[in-house]
Amino acid sequence: MNRFFTLGALLIGLAGALVAAPAALAQPSPDFIARREAFIDQLMKRMTVQEKIGQLRLRSVEAGPHPDMAGFEKEISDGRVGGIFNTVTRPAIRVLQDAAMRSRLKIPLFFSFDVIHGQRTIFPVDLGVASSWDLDAIRTMGRISAIEASADGLNLTYSPMVDISRDPRWGRNSEGFGEDTYLTSKMGAALVKAYQGDDPSQPGHIMATVKHFALYGAVEGGRDYNTVDMSERRMFEDYFPPYKAAVDAGAAAVMIALNSVNGEPATSDKWLLQDVLRKQWGFKGITISDHGAILELIKHGVAADGQDAARKAILAGTDMSMSDTIYDTNLMPLLKSGKIRIADIDRACRDVLRVKYDLGLFKNPYRDIGAAADDPPDIYAESRLHRPEARKVADESLVLLTNRDHTLPLRKSGTIALVGPLADDQVDVMGNWAGAGRIYQTVSLRQGIENAAGGKVRVLYAKGANVTDDAAMVQYLNQYNPHDVQIDPRSEADMVKEAVDAARQADVIVAAVGEAQGMAHEASSRSDITIPPVQERLLKALKATGKPLVIVLMNGRPLALTWEARNADAMLETWFSGTEGGNAIADVLFGDVNPSGKLPMTFPRAVGQIPLYYNHLPTGRPFDPAHPDKYTSRYFDITNGPLFPFGYGLSYTTFSVSDVKLSAPVMKAGGTLHASVTVTNTGDRDGATVVQLYLNQPMASVSRPVKMLRGFSRIELKPGESRVVSFPITDDDLAFYNQQVKRVVEPGKINVYIGLDSDSVKATSFNRL
Ligand code: BGC
Repeated sequence: MNRFFTLGALLIGLAGALVAAPAALAQPSPDFIARREAFIDQLMKRMTVQEKIGQLRLRSVEAGPHPDMAGFEKEISDGRVGGIFNTVTRPAIRVLQDAAMRSRLKIPLFFSFDVIHGQRTIFPVDLGVASSWDLDAIRTMGRISAIEASADGLNLTYSPMVDISRDPRWGRNSEGFGEDTYLTSKMGAALVKAYQGDDPSQPGHIMATVKHFALYGAVEGGRDYNTVDMSERRMFEDYFPPYKAAVDAGAAAVMIALNSVNGEPATSDKWLLQDVLRKQWGFKGITISDHGAILELIKHGVAADGQDAARKAILAGTDMSMSDTIYDTNLMPLLKSGKIRIADIDRACRDVLRVKYDLGLFKNPYRDIGAAADDPPDIYAESRLHRPEARKVADESLVLLTNRDHTLPLRKSGTIALVGPLADDQVDVMGNWAGAGRIYQTVSLRQGIENAAGGKVRVLYAKGANVTDDAAMVQYLNQYNPHDVQIDPRSEADMVKEAVDAARQADVIVAAVGEAQGMAHEASSRSDITIPPVQERLLKALKATGKPLVIVLMNGRPLALTWEARNADAMLETWFSGTEGGNAIADVLFGDVNPSGKLPMTFPRAVGQIPLYYNHLPTGRPFDPAHPDKYTSRYFDITNGPLFPFGYGLSYTTFSVSDVKLSAPVMKAGGTLHASVTVTNTGDRDGATVVQLYLNQPMASVSRPVKMLRGFSRIELKPGESRVVSFPITDDDLAFYNQQVKRVVEPGKINVYIGLDSDSVKATSFNRL
């Protein structure tokens, strides 16, 4: 009865080895596949068409009393629902599964939720975890999320989001892993494996949904839900690999993007959903529409009405419709009128049943729900949280951007003026899509500082400013949750005065500023990526006191921080750092932890430079700062290049990187070459850093990026300690899509760059024969 055979090493343990990943992907054994398909054949023979259509329906049931619970349970027991999302406790889930068990064929429901960066324990937002450049950190988040979600009765999460974005205006950057294809692919695949393990039917595992297929992060102008127009070469080269990596890692589900791709909405794009996803990549799981996306085909202008939209979606390969009745109402008439065939419904139904089978739900529909007697007496119990793991990941996600004259770390003595709208906040620090996390269980920065420095430091707190003083913006942010942004009714002058008075009495100012979590969310694109003006005015007033100014940033996207970079004595990027955020930030502020995070996105100087990303193509007239010529590619009204480059982040210690050594001057086709450097901790404290390998092919049949990340390694060194870091380079790292969109490796010179960010690197080169 061996369920899976493993092509590599160890399974991920449930509690013990939280971060040990399987070395290679487990594949279902041929025997298992045969048994599964035979089971599904038998079941489908007994299903009515209406029951098959029912499997394609994904229904949202929000927490709290449902207005028509009886009617809703009847829909389930009539076999008209395939899966549920947004129900997050075992008692509530059990009621719904009980209804499914009263249906004619007792086909179990699956239960899903947006467990994006944690279920009960909230980790940093994904962009923050990406800043760790530590695959063990993402694995920890994935394992804990799966353990907590399955303990709540859930089977599937709508994560990872691996949409590459080169546009900080897009609000959903916080949910992804940044601008780089390689880093995002590694993070996404590791997260899928951490959720699912080798066998998702095992306790403590859930299934993953990679999203949003495809190209959602490339919406024009960074405006959410906007269109995407992109060459096929760029899709395959830069934007598709992370989705493919997640599929290769075994992701059970794919969520389809809301945007159109070259004029075809992804939801009705047969090329994307069948040719690329199924035929080229061999995907066998379910495709799920995004929220109400099938009906949106009408507004996209490619479907005449609801029935036409349902027809286009099912024919393209959209298996499940999320949160609407569109398949429920329309597939039967479409079948009767011959506009679709039963085979179209069967194909989608089979995908859903297959995932339920793989989850082990046919064997035990209550696999995660358990018996009522075993329900946690208190779902919010402290004992259900995993605080130490969340704190460690948060520690690693913080990025030190500037630190003049060793302003940081702070001493645990004297007086700190702690100011800013985000300093005493428990809502925003959790970030958006905060699972089933609880605000009151979240550690604010103020609490974190008090925990770390307790009686030794006098902390003078003043809010200083609201997160924004723009009433229309507040109204927008609070549209669905009136408590998201809380506005202090005092005048701006009074609040600034209080903060300045505190600053004058203090040795140092710590100002927590940035965005409310709702400003970096779905439907939260910004045309201005600076810190809101009312907070900037506060910072300027604080600066005028002459006291050292430490800026603690909380935000979900790269911000334009030119004034801050010039005027702050130190600046720490903390993203939205989760349940343990305040403790983690305090760890770094006081030097109990030495910061090691690196930026997963380029920080521009101004919004007008966007898109600004490190792995751009060369131009015929590159700008050369050493010889600035007029007729070169630049903006003449701003310093060229980013404020902080991709891969950048400081430490309290210093590191040196030696010249790059190659194992050979040439590489044969199919061969492997090793590039190495010696990294030394040249400072006086323990520290970690991320060594980064970039490649470039300066001459090929098509223009190649000036640099492409192809390896990274996070290392920890004691003062004076050195370590050789070696990266293998193979043809896989050099391959690209040529003019005919064929993946090729071309012989020629390859530049090799190794450094501690994408900008300051040591260089050498070799010839690929
Ligand atoms: C989002 C998805 C999310 C879904 C379900 C949509 O609005 O685009 O990312 O998974 O809602 O909550």
